[in-house]
Amino acid sequence: MEEKAIRSDVLKINDIYNMDCLVGMQLLPNNSIDLLLTDPPFAIDFKAHRANYNRTQDRVLSGYNEINADDYLKFTRCWMKEAYRVLSESSSAFVFSGWNNLKDILIAADEVGFITVNHIIWKYQFGVVCKRRFVTSHYHCLFLCKDDKKRKFFNSARYTADERDKNGGSLRYQDLEDVWNIKREYWHGDKKTPTKLPADLILKILHYTSEENDVVLDPFMGSGQVAVLSKQNGRKYIGFEIVKEYCDFAKERLESGSYRISSNKPIAATQIDLF
Ligand SMILES: C[S@@+](CC[C@H](N)C(=O)[O-])C[C@H]1O[C@@H](n2cnc3c(N)ncnc32)[C@H](O)[C@@H]1O
Repeated sequence: MEEKAIRSDVLKINDIYNMDCLVGMQLLPNNSIDLLLTDPPFAIDFKAHRANYNRTQDRVLSGYNEINADDYLKFTRCWMKEAYRVLSESSSAFVFSGWNNLKDILIAADEVGFITVNHIIWKYQFGVVCKRRFVTSHYHCLFLCKDDKKRKFFNSARYTADERDKNGGSLRYQDLEDVWNIKREYWHGDKKTPTKLPADLILKILHYTSEENDVVLDPFMGSGQVAVLSKQNGRKYIGFEIVKEYCDFAKERLESGSYRISSNKPIAATQIDLF
């Protein structure tokens, strides 16, 4: 099969770049990406919330790049417009968002021309205690596409029609519901960025909406989860991350083939890592 190339003087497929994705995506040709899977920055004062996260900070790589809340819609429009351009007609896009800036993501997705296929809820455990409100324990994930007839979807990618749980329920049916109950990963004692998506969440998307050799783009890579899991599962990848330390960490993971990279720093007796 002919190698699908990202034709650019600057960028190569199966590589990641320490770049602003607003610049990087402009270097990608039209219709060159088969799947976009991303978790953009939040537009909350993440640093101010760190104390709430009750975790040992010395293995968390510093430098998380945040967007001002007033600029969030404009920023989202810009990157989504480029994402729409680079995606192929048979592609899908999965965009994660907390509830606080979901409205901007929905507005921008609509404005740039995306069709919404599903609005998925990722239910997770958090571990904080709230005295005057409910504990946030979900995240939104928009399943978008350019062409609802041409997009790929492999509905038997994970379970056959007759696989059952112990109560006789259909595993395939349950897996295809739009509320996904998936635990966060705690990388105790290992290097990490302040946020990361769990492997099970990314794998579910890869299995249902992509094939081997498809090109997967993550413009906001963080720890590189999307690239690492794409590579491990026979997909091609390309990604951007504006913080050099995170990009270096993702590169180290990709090059070493290690899912987790151990830190030499001492491990605290008690530690709750929330991402
Ligand atoms: C929510 S995190 C992504 C976490 C990632 N999904 C993971 O599993 O590790 C968002 C990332 O986007 C990065 N970022 C923010 N603005 C960016 C930009 N303009 N271009 C590229 N990366 C950016 C942040 O530094 C942060 O690492």
